[in-house]
Amino acid sequence: MSKVHVTTVVNGDPVEFLCETEQTLLDVLRDELHLTGSKEGCGSGDCGACSVMLDGRLVCSCLVLGAEAEGRSVETIEGMATGDALHPLQRKFLEHAALQCGICTPGFLVAAKALLEKSPDPTETEVRYWLAGNLCRCTGYDKIIRAVMDAAQEMRGG
Ligand code: FES
Ligand code: FES
Repeated sequence: MSKVHVTTVVNGDPVEFLCETEQTLLDVLRDELHLTGSKEGCGSGDCGACSVMLDGRLVCSCLVLGAEAEGRSVETIEGMATGDALHPLQRKFLEHAALQCGICTPGFLVAAKALLEKSPDPTETEVRYWLAGNLCRCTGYDKIIRAVMDAAQEMRGG
């Protein structure tokens, strides 16, 4: 079957790729564009490890087709730091030891950034609900929540 030609923007850069019609955006990112930060935990929309932003909306890239990126804007974990300067969320995850194996971490970071952009001063309950779609089998969650709350405070200038 012929491949689909897709023109899109990934982390601010114009990108073109060819993909199979049934290829997910997650597989395109990892296998065609070699952006392997987004992880496949489940492949069925249950774990959040593959979270990316599509036109400013948080999505599970395992549930989006690569072809659906046509004409749209994708932001992945690879676009989160600015050069060598980590995003405050990334720094706080390190400071709070909010990761162990790291499989879930890119998804948590992308999702947490989306939360703080729409809600800069969330309550702990809001953070917990927002991140309920991101599963972690290692940390027990508390360190992740602490890291997000701390990053939010720093980003507010507190
Ligand atoms: S890999 Fe997409 S939600 Fe789990
Ligand atoms: S750090 Fe291992 S799954 Fe979250």
